[in-house]
Amino acid sequence: MDIGEVTKNRKLEHILLTVERDVESREHTLLKYVRLVHNPLPEADLDDVSLEKEFCGHKLEVPLMITGMTGGHPETGKINHKIGILAEKYGLAVGVGSQRAAIEKPEVANTFRAMREAAPNAFIVANLGAPQLSKGYGVREARKAVEMIDADAIAIHLNVGQELFQAEGDPYYSRVIEKIVEIADSLDVPVIVKETGAGLSRETVRTLYRLGISCFDVSGLGGTSWIKVEGIRSLGTGHPTPGELSDYWGNPTALAVIEARASAPGAYIIGSGGIRTGLDVVKVLALGADLAGIALPILKVLIKGGLEAASKYLETLIYQIKASILMAGGRRPEDLWRAPLTLWGRLREEAEARGIDTVEYLSRTRLQPLLVRSGWLPMKS
Ligand SMILES: Cc1cc2nc3c(=O)[nH]c(=O)nc-3n(C[C@H](O)[C@H](O)[C@H](O)COP(=O)(O)O)c2cc1C
Repeated sequence: MDIGEVTKNRKLEHILLTVERDVESREHTLLKYVRLVHNPLPEADLDDVSLEKEFCGHKLEVPLMITGMTGGHPETGKINHKIGILAEKYGLAVGVGSQRAAIEKPEVANTFRAMREAAPNAFIVANLGAPQLSKGYGVREARKAVEMIDADAIAIHLNVGQELFQAEGDPYYSRVIEKIVEIADSLDVPVIVKETGAGLSRETVRTLYRLGISCFDVSGLGGTSWIKVEGIRSLGTGHPTPGELSDYWGNPTALAVIEARASAPGAYIIGSGGIRTGLDVVKVLALGADLAGIALPILKVLIKGGLEAASKYLETLIYQIKASILMAGGRRPEDLWRAPLTLWGRLREEAEARGIDTVEYLSRTRLQPLLVRSGWLPMKS
């Protein structure tokens, strides 16, 4: 079987496994240590609340992204088509999964294009993996991925844990920073650097932000664990098993958002990894993210209940977000950056242990994107 065929079938296997098996980490996002203070007198009506959000120069109707999952196999084209329909209907941002399969086998490009065909106006994110950059991909392949789906941005995903525990994995990460910067400098759409469930860190975001990268998807620990997925897949192959790494390796989502915002005051930040409810969404936004990102729950609901069930899930989520913004005393997603918030327990201790003054963070740092975007603060300090 050639490499394109292997990539294509692995994609299908990943989908079946993530939908049917328990692949989420036992460790949580740490969002349970965040509370938005209830405002019993919000002095606004539900109709005054608008979820509109500017993201990388585009207007979204809701501060949500369905992050990249799939494409490559004919069956996955149908999923991408449905995700496109949801994006167009609700005005959310969406992404395709790694386009490596279509770079290697152009005849499967239609499984990625299916999303754009269903969503001519949506913000769609292309996707390539860092190991491919290390092994030789560069500006040419990134441009191909963008053009393939007329993308508004391209995500470069970091997945070192996944590659390490995939029996046929590619744990190659040298020269990736250089390649990411080259791609960002050459393309005319933004590059989003994203993790895949183990969380970006303060150091990584700071390094990349200083080099000019200004979009990050933290994809933290607390949701889908790719170490766990590959651990299950490689059982019986003789490849070393991950053990506790399946559940406990990574930077939890709440902490990853705080670390990313502390390192990149003007960046667009997506808070993702284990986001499951409207309350999770408003918590990551209040911590400093621009959007919340969701992957596995959308895939599950689409596969098990189709478009109707997925629409219902999203409508409930959107209502919960609106309701929470009103109960926090706000009218817009950005108001959550000013909303009173408490952090305690492990989240606070870990943030402090990472050198972040949480009082300063809540009162000033998480507001910085407003100041940078309105020109009051420079992009880089
Ligand atoms: C079936 C599946 C396939 C995925 N494939 C990709 C991918 O190709 N590229 C990528 O950047 N992330 C991929 N991801 C990672 C997600 O975008 C997301 O970062 C991660 O699953 C954490 O979010 P969650 O807890 O909401 O699932 C995939 C996730 C799932 C569930």
